[in-house]
Amino acid sequence: MSIQLELHDIQGTVLRNRPMPYYGAYILFQIDNAEDARTLVRRLIPYVTSAEEWEHPAENAWINIVFSFEGLRKMGLSEEILAGFPQEFKEGMAARKNFLGDLGESDPEHWDLPHGRTGFHVGLLVMAGSEELRNQKIEIGHHVVSELTGVKTVARLDVGVPPTMREHFGYLDGLSRPFIEGEGGAPLPGQGDPVKAGEFVLGYVNELGVVATGPGPEEFWKNGTYIAVRKIGQKVAAFRKYLADQAPTSEGQEYVAAKMMGRWRSGCPLALSPEKDNPDLVWDKQRNNAFAYYDDDLDGKKTPVGCHIRRVNPRDGLKDSIVDARIHRLLRRGAAYGPLLPEGAEEDGIDRGIMIAFINANPGRQFEFVQSQWVNDGDFVSQGSRTDPIVGRRDMADDYVFPDKPIRRKLTGLPDYTATRGGEHVFLPGLRGLRWLVENCK
Ligand code: HEM
Repeated sequence: MSIQLELHDIQGTVLRNRPMPYYGAYILFQIDNAEDARTLVRRLIPYVTSAEEWEHPAENAWINIVFSFEGLRKMGLSEEILAGFPQEFKEGMAARKNFLGDLGESDPEHWDLPHGRTGFHVGLLVMAGSEELRNQKIEIGHHVVSELTGVKTVARLDVGVPPTMREHFGYLDGLSRPFIEGEGGAPLPGQGDPVKAGEFVLGYVNELGVVATGPGPEEFWKNGTYIAVRKIGQKVAAFRKYLADQAPTSEGQEYVAAKMMGRWRSGCPLALSPEKDNPDLVWDKQRNNAFAYYDDDLDGKKTPVGCHIRRVNPRDGLKDSIVDARIHRLLRRGAAYGPLLPEGAEEDGIDRGIMIAFINANPGRQFEFVQSQWVNDGDFVSQGSRTDPIVGRRDMADDYVFPDKPIRRKLTGLPDYTATRGGEHVFLPGLRGLRWLVENCK
């Protein structure tokens, strides 16, 4: 029997797709005074868009509110309730650096986005169909903050998905996501069986057959969830140069790029078109994600077992192993920041990359598991310590192999063309939870 999600109470970004193209921003606030922080949240609640309103937005623009663990403490949430949060959220992402592989250039000491330990307490996620509408929504936040001495803005990062839907390395993004039980509608081909809602929203049964809960009264945590936010810098010229070094022709470079991702840069899946790109099927929702691995590509001849998309969502490819891939699903909202680097240009020193919001009800067995075991380790697909060719750490291994004709191909000396530049585990309460926070914290 299908479950009923309380859509009116769930913040919209959890379940709803953003417009494409879209203009967004992360606005981060620091709290110096709890009373002012509660006033901030109280005044912003009327602007928060729920999953129910999302499809019929009054203004084609949306606001959602998140908190770092330190932020909830600053709001005045009791230590007793705080103690009940998951360890990953309590420690904050910077403290998890060894586990997450955020070392060297990715070390939190180099991060430029404030996190829980350095002054980010409350965040606004703003999304809109145009730049003007985005700025209007941001103005609401600024206006509320300007009247409060105990809250200050510590960062603003503009993000967006361009009309091409391409991220900085040139791949079309935003094609695959899990279908969540109760979200409405039916799964598209390739989304598989609906994932239990408790994997993404607290208060519902998860894939382990238990209700995902939070600390304190149900009114506070029900319909809330966690987001693992990652700011990842991309060295575009280094990536392009690496491709150019692997193949003299642009076709050859596109082939290598596709074998690293699991999709051609057009978005076309290798699973459906392994020999050559077929951009036509990218805009067909019935086809662009309609694949699995077990039946006809277990050994990765089409979609290599170590490529990006097969690591982070192995689909049915691990059916014979002890790993249950269904308990490590991520709901992903990626957006680019920084200007595009023109084709052929050298690195210009400007920060550009991708901001990814990974929605998960259990940050330990979802985001942190995927990042540490699947992105930064290759053991689960018999790849030893080989890491993700797009975003994996390079200090463990810097080569990548994939089946090819006549013999397998080995890429060596993969450069570090990505580096973590910020990150935090945040809590995104339901609307009732937000009201509970402002009314019950002292
Ligand atoms: C520079 C960093 C990254 C880039 C450029 C990137 C890019 C992409 C692209 C182009 C896709 C294919 C489009 C799609 O399936 O919708 C994708 C899929 C995905 N990525 Fe990433 N990604 C990055 C980092 C990460 C990280 C760190 C994780 C997880 C820890 C991750 C998780 C996923 C997931 C779960 C999918 C969906 C795969 C599927 O369902 O088939 N990505 N990514």
